[in-house]
Amino acid sequence: MKIGIFDSGYGGLTILKKIREALPQYDYLYLGDNARAPYGPHSYEVIYRYTLEAVEALLRRDCQLVILACNTASAKALRTIQMNDLPRFGADRRVLGVIRPTVEAVPAVTSSKHVGLLGTPGTVNSGSYTMELRNIDPELQLTALSCPMWVPLVEYGEHDTPGADYFVKKRIDEVMQLDPAIDTLILGCTHYPLLIKKIRAFAPEGIRIVEQGEYVAASLADYLRRHPELEGKLARGASCRYLTTESPEKFSKAATLFMRLPDVVAERIDLPERQ
Ligand code: DGL
Repeated sequence: MKIGIFDSGYGGLTILKKIREALPQYDYLYLGDNARAPYGPHSYEVIYRYTLEAVEALLRRDCQLVILACNTASAKALRTIQMNDLPRFGADRRVLGVIRPTVEAVPAVTSSKHVGLLGTPGTVNSGSYTMELRNIDPELQLTALSCPMWVPLVEYGEHDTPGADYFVKKRIDEVMQLDPAIDTLILGCTHYPLLIKKIRAFAPEGIRIVEQGEYVAASLADYLRRHPELEGKLARGASCRYLTTESPEKFSKAATLFMRLPDVVAERIDLPERQ
């Protein structure tokens, strides 16, 4: 059995990279729904349906557990899939998200307890981060701002261009104006680490930036330690396969470029799948 990693597009590769660094021994299957990305602006119903179709595709391909390496899908679809859909695939399959592990890291990072969240409109409007942070520490003050242009900048390979400066600086300035006491910015979208150079350049000095990859990887390692009955089912071939709903050539090129992965060969699948 494998570990499935799902994202609307390329962003989840930032999570996959950190997970493979922490847990290189397992077999991974990555699925990017590039043909339908970005998910961020869509309604709850659409994000839920798209995410479910992707999760089903991964479960059918022998994934013991699936990580939604996408905040938008984690915010909008995770709970419903866990409660309503997962039982159909058997009691021992799991779907996990990226929001909880990220939120758990925040109290140790912030000193002022004023935290900014940058994410897609879907993630920000869901209120998931606000809710989860409040559960962890009611004194944390969250200011959330959506950055609708950031995912398209990455998906279209414009994230390292001078044109991206305007959009990155604008949102960072805005969130800092909304609450100048912010000392920590959560990158609540798995695409955003690809903009990290610009985010660091435009963030005021001393601001701490929470990238999700290492926290999600550490949380998965901990989860597997606590669930030996699931961990024992995972094959140890140290392999990774990539699926995309868009052109495999485009995916391979982008993955190589973004993640400096030389050996990405992707296969195309269609979602929804015909059964
Ligand atoms: N990487 C996804 C996330 O973390 C991007 C969502 C999108 O496709 O808009 O939210």
